[in-house]
Amino acid sequence: MLKIESVTYDITNGSGDVSILKNIDLDLEDNKFYALTGPNGGGKTSLARIIMGIYKNTKGKLYLDGVDITNFSITERAKAGISYAFQNPPRFKGLKISDLLKISVGNEKDALYARLKAVGLCPQDYFDRECDNSLSGGEIKRIELATVLSRPSKIIIYDEPEAGVDLWSFEKLLALIKKYHSHGGVTSIVITHHEKVLSLADEIILMAEGEIKERGPRESMWKILQGDFKCRWQKNCGGYEDELDCYRQ
Ligand SMILES: Nc1ncnc2c1ncn2[C@@H]1O[C@H](COP(=O)(O)OP(=O)(O)OP(=O)(O)O)[C@@H](O)[C@H]1O
Ligand SMILES: [Mg+2]
Repeated sequence: MLKIESVTYDITNGSGDVSILKNIDLDLEDNKFYALTGPNGGGKTSLARIIMGIYKNTKGKLYLDGVDITNFSITERAKAGISYAFQNPPRFKGLKISDLLKISVGNEKDALYARLKAVGLCPQDYFDRECDNSLSGGEIKRIELATVLSRPSKIIIYDEPEAGVDLWSFEKLLALIKKYHSHGGVTSIVITHHEKVLSLADEIILMAEGEIKERGPRESMWKILQGDFKCRWQKNCGGYEDELDCYRQ
């Protein structure tokens, strides 16, 4: 179980001190499929980065299976079984896609080809390509998904797996995520704005303004998301409609 206890993340920038995450308490059970959603800028990616150890929380503690991982490095957390698929995956200039996959899959060509096919990439087109900026947004998301699913994990956080992926492929990638989950032994946390992902979750967690606002089973949360939620925490500085005129000549 992942336990997040009173986690706060404060930063100092040009506007002064800003609290990005405010006193987050969250218990995530083993083997559950969670969807984490909420308005843009609500703190979802920041929370994922805190869990992965990319950001260091200002206050609070994190425990994995009862072990205090608060001071674990990214590598130590990865070894403990935490994986994170980035919202915007990093590129690795000079590294071939096959070499990236070999780290977790090994050198067997058929196995490497199978990993690429499973995320909808033709191996002969991608095997020897560099993992650099020439890859499209959807291609790099698929490659990252292939690498994350090739590592043994207890917890996988997928940050907007839908981002950049075409309409025809997203359902297949989501089915892959769900199938991986259904084999057991992993807690899946999917950060998403997509109804299809929400409809598959055991539980939906709603974040806004750096706080967990609501959480619960999919059915009850669905009503909240469909209701007045979008008005309550969506920052719009007075309404989009009033501003539209500035685009009209
Ligand atoms: N290093 C930073 N410096 C300044 N502000 C930051 C920093 N990191 C995050 N923020 C701010 O913290 C808030 C939360 O960002 P975060 O990326 O966690 O949101 P999110 O919920 O993932 O949003 P989205 O749905 O758009 O991906 C945003 O307002 C963002 O601009
Ligand atoms: Mg985000």
